[in-house]
Amino acid sequence: MVPAELAPVAAPEPGSVLDPVGPEAAQIAGLTWFMITLGGLLWLLTVVFLVLALRHRAHREPRASDRGAKSFIAVWGVVVPIVVLPIVFAYSLVVGVDISRPPPPGELTVEVVGHQFWWEVRYPEADVVTANEIHVPVGRPVRLEMTSADVIHSLWIPPVAGKLDLLPGQTNTLSFRVDEPGRYLGECAEFCGIQHARMQFVLVAQPAEEFAEHLRALQATTAEPVGELAEAGREVYLAAGCGQCHRIEDVSEGADFAPDLTHLATRDTIAAGMLENTRGNLAGWILDPQGLKPGVRMPPNNLSGADLQALLAYLESLE
Ligand code: CUA
Repeated sequence: MVPAELAPVAAPEPGSVLDPVGPEAAQIAGLTWFMITLGGLLWLLTVVFLVLALRHRAHREPRASDRGAKSFIAVWGVVVPIVVLPIVFAYSLVVGVDISRPPPPGELTVEVVGHQFWWEVRYPEADVVTANEIHVPVGRPVRLEMTSADVIHSLWIPPVAGKLDLLPGQTNTLSFRVDEPGRYLGECAEFCGIQHARMQFVLVAQPAEEFAEHLRALQATTAEPVGELAEAGREVYLAAGCGQCHRIEDVSEGADFAPDLTHLATRDTIAAGMLENTRGNLAGWILDPQGLKPGVRMPPNNLSGADLQALLAYLESLE
């Protein structure tokens, strides 16, 4: 049994579409406000007409002419929708086309692969693979090249960009820019299985130098564990079969369906944004992932206390 305190909310608070942090998101927010305002006005008008009609009936006022009633229906039921709907359609089209434009030159490309129920993240230029955490520099255009390894997922970071599906066998690209540094919650927005709701990630927008430093740190990874305990931990990792699913650079090949652990210790969360990356949470996750996240692909691991401590020391050394 895993105690309840093992499952705090680790990822940042969900952001809002109405609180945009970049130009693409600002366009979407503008469209959203336009629709809310227009819809609200039309709703108010409808209520006013309804009240007038009810009062009319209650006072048993004589009926207006048939002609008047017919032209009222023609104007409000036909003419107004014919004018209003194309305006809404045109505005959404303009926004849709504008935010799907390829980014200006100098963009950062990040590859994202959706898996049940986590996100594989690759920086092809830096030759770095990680998971459930996308770092981007503030103010620089970003292009996410997205695909799926299994079923259809959808990537959504509400204050940053619109939703876009990740489809098996196809690459979709999502372009955006983030102008405010921060940690933003990203979610899967397409039902993809039992843990769809906990398929989250963190988008970290940071100043350019900090981002470059982060990438350099990931590139400089050494696979050699430091200290006896961590060394023993690597043996546990291999003997327990962790490496059959997980990849660690120069240690294990892994398989396609489990997150790369080469930089595990640099990540703020584990279990796709669900748990803070602490020693206790990591231990609980290794022993009983099904208890924390039923239906996840990882099986439980029955390790002795000593083996677990060694394995944790090793995993916490993976920077
Ligand atoms: Cu992935 Cu829902």
